[in-house]
Parts: sequence; C-alpha cells; structure tokens
Amino acid sequence: MFSIGETVRADFRAVFERDPAARNGLEVVLAYPGFHAILMHRVTYRLWRWGVPVLPRVLSHVSRFLTGIEIHPGAQIGKRFFIDHGMGVVIGETTEIGDDVTLYQGVTLGGTGKERGKRHPTIGNNVLVGVGAKVLGAIEIGDNVKIGSGSVVLRSVPPNSTVVGVPGWVVATHPPDTDIHERVEHLPDPEGETIRALQERIIRLETKIATLEARLAEGTIEGSAESLARSRRG
Ligand SMILES: CC(C)(COP(=O)(O)OP(=O)(O)OC[C@H]1O[C@@H](n2cnc3c(N)ncnc32)[C@H](O)[C@@H]1OP(=O)(O)O)[C@@H](O)C(=O)NCCC(=O)NCCS
Repeated sequence: MFSIGETVRADFRAVFERDPAARNGLEVVLAYPGFHAILMHRVTYRLWRWGVPVLPRVLSHVSRFLTGIEIHPGAQIGKRFFIDHGMGVVIGETTEIGDDVTLYQGVTLGGTGKERGKRHPTIGNNVLVGVGAKVLGAIEIGDNVKIGSGSVVLRSVPPNSTVVGVPGWVVATHPPDTDIHERVEHLPDPEGETIRALQERIIRLETKIATLEARLAEGTIEGSAESLARSRRG
C-alpha cells in the first residue's frame, strides 16, 4: 500500500492537470470539495482496512455533509483521482477504481439493488465519467473509457471506448496513442423511428383520400359510407 502523504500529493497535482480553472494551491486546498472528499477518504479507507469500527463511517458521513460527496470507506480508489465540482457523487462500498480517474458532479458508482457481496463497478485506469452518469452493478469499465454525461451504464464496457445514452451504448472507439476515433454505432432513436413511421402513414392516408375525393368528384364511385369502405378495401 502506498503512503498517504505521497497519494495525497498525487491527488493534489491531478487537480491542476485536469481542471483548467485551478490556478493556485491555496485555492485547491481551501475550495475544492472533490479534493477534500478524496483526502478524507484516504484516511477513512485506512481505518476501514484496520478494522476500526464505526469511526470510518462517521468520518465519511462528516465528509459527505461538508462536500456533498459520499464515498464509502471500503471503496478502493487508485492514484491521481479527481472529482470535479462533486455535489451528489456517490461511490459504493465494493467499488474499485484504477489510477487517473475523473468523475464529475452527480455521478453514481452504485449497485442495482439486486446483488450482494461485490455489487459495485470496477473502473479501469484513465476513465472519465461525465456529469450525472450512473454506473450500476458489479460490471467492469475498461481502461481509457469515456462515459457520456447522463448515461446509465448497466453492462461492462471494453477498454478505449466511448459509451453514451440510457441504457449506455458503445458509440465510438479510440485506441490510445493514436488519433483514430472510430464511430461504431449510432444511438438507437425509438422516438424518431416512431415519428418517421407515423409521417409515412399520414402520407399514405393523404394519398388515398385525394384519390377517393377525385373519384367522388368524377362520379366513378358513390358517396355513401358503404361504398367508401368498399373502395378502401379494394
Ligand atoms: C461522451 C463525451 C466524453 C464525448 O466523447 P467522444 O468519444 O469525443 O464522443 P463524440 O463527441 O464524438 O460523440 C459520439 C456520439 O455520442 C453522442 N454523445 C456525446 N455525448 C453524449 C451524451 N452525454 N449523451 C448522449 N449522446 C452523446 C454524440 O452526439 C455523438 O453522436 P452521433 O454519432 O449520433 O453524432 C462527452 O460528450 C461527454 O459527455 N463528456 C462529459 C463532460 C462533462 O461531464 N462535463 C461536465 C462539466 S461540469
């Protein structure tokens, strides 16, 4: 296990690397809830591992009260972890997080409510989880994955990919150390498909009505409901 001092210094540097708004150290120490939350977690995690009862949960509760970020003391978090803004982030007990991971506000790394034991996600290295995204269940998120804001991810995601939507779909891959960004899938659009089907149906109906009106005007069909129905069947 690496020393707390070394780990906290790495977390501190990560803020500067990933937040262009971070300008000086004092500002980060005093006004970055994401930094406060991970600092506190580095301590509560140690206490949890030593088997200290109650205190780790109480300290993590205090941290949540101060920062709006809830990290269970049992969660394993790698180096250079950064939570930007932070409010509403929840990280469950059996979550495992690799190095260089960034989370934005409102992210949940949680359980589905159906599992026991290991029930929270395992997140690889260099993963970005966008604002409000939910990653649920004992699934694996590969290295270098980007999870779009607002996504709900319920299945494992292969490395080097971008996942977006509800439920989350892999829409692009981006092998590391290359400029390649390959679009693999477009998001399904059930509402758009329904609207397109309705439009086509309206066009077909309008054509039929125009034909019937023309035939009525020519007198080639009688204008009764019965004959109209007969004509439609034909
Ligand atoms: C997902 C994200 C990382 C972009 O990744 P990317 O690999 O560069 O993907 P692209 O921008 O090429 O988008 C790929 C497709 O996903 C769609 N997409 C991107 N982000 C999306 C999202 N959050 N929800 C739904 N669709 C999204 C794009 O429109 C595009 O769709 P198309 O193929 O139909 O055109 C980015 O959109 C994102 O959500 N970043 C999070 C940033 C954040 O949370 N900021 C908070 C600041 S406070």
